[in-house]
Amino acid sequence: MRFVLGLLKPRLQVLGTDLAGEVVATGSNISSFSVSDRVFGFTDTGLASQAEYVALSPTGNLATIPDNIDYQHAAASLEGAHYAYAFIRRASIKPGQSILINGASGAIGSALLQFARQYGAHITATCSTKNIALIKSLAADKVYDYTRQDFTRHNDCYDFIFDTVGKSSFGKCRPLLKSKGVYTSSELGKFAQNPILAAFTALGKGKKVIFPVPYSIRESLPFIKKHLQEGTFKPVIDREYPLAAIAEAYAYVLTGQKTGNVVVSIQGKHSSDT
Ligand SMILES: NC(=O)c1ccc[n+]([C@@H]2O[C@H](COP(=O)([O-])OP(=O)(O)OC[C@H]3O[C@@H](n4cnc5c(N)ncnc54)[C@H](OP(=O)(O)O)[C@@H]3O)[C@@H](O)[C@H]2O)c1
Repeated sequence: MRFVLGLLKPRLQVLGTDLAGEVVATGSNISSFSVSDRVFGFTDTGLASQAEYVALSPTGNLATIPDNIDYQHAAASLEGAHYAYAFIRRASIKPGQSILINGASGAIGSALLQFARQYGAHITATCSTKNIALIKSLAADKVYDYTRQDFTRHNDCYDFIFDTVGKSSFGKCRPLLKSKGVYTSSELGKFAQNPILAAFTALGKGKKVIFPVPYSIRESLPFIKKHLQEGTFKPVIDREYPLAAIAEAYAYVLTGQKTGNVVVSIQGKHSSDT
């Protein structure tokens, strides 16, 4: 039997299935949440819609929002960080290692950068000109502007290359990896080769491809919440749109040039109105 949490009134949503809002009703068998709780979470079921109210089962994909976090940042802290968590968990970053994050200004990349800096690694990141200051403020040690520089043409050496936007390939990055270096990408690759390369390179002792299959939200959500509480993760928000401007919000995200996250506010204003 699935227990019904009841109605959650989302205040804010990131495009997709991420939610932050207030519990307005609970089923009689629910003890983990109460009316008026501020909660956030997501379902990751491809629910391609937005709504003012939603009924959810409290199956581990919801948590209370830390007191120091507003609804905007709670909504923006979810799915990008969930995928960043998969990168972090599958790599074992050690202090002093060198890592590169390709696409550090995306939702996944900007979360990964903030998580990775906790490990004391030397971080090189890529972004476009407009985001260099932001990426440096998130503690990248070195930045390549991908509109002017191709990081694969420089003689750097990395323990890990995380491509969070799938714009590179193992073939191009291989020469930059140390002898036991690891390449990992958010995408399957042009020929869907990344999972196959992951299987083959796992058998050898040299450079490897790891495919970051996401972990359960039950595992990533407590990790995200802890970093929000401790102030070691602050999700990057680019724009906020009211629900009425949802088509505009999607059009902007589909440009592939958003920075961090785009938030949809159920009753809010367009961020350019303020
Ligand atoms: N976010 C999610 O929840 C989610 C969920 C599932 C899958 N994915 C997939 O994961 C990938 C990343 O998603 P995302 O939301 O983090 O970002 P995204 O919206 O797909 O990409 C936007 C970012 O990509 C950067 N970028 C564009 N071209 C680049 C290049 N040639 N080199 C380096 N960076 C480049 C842009 O940087 P500048 O703005 O600095 O130009 C921008 O910050 C996408 O393929 C997406 O489909 C994302």
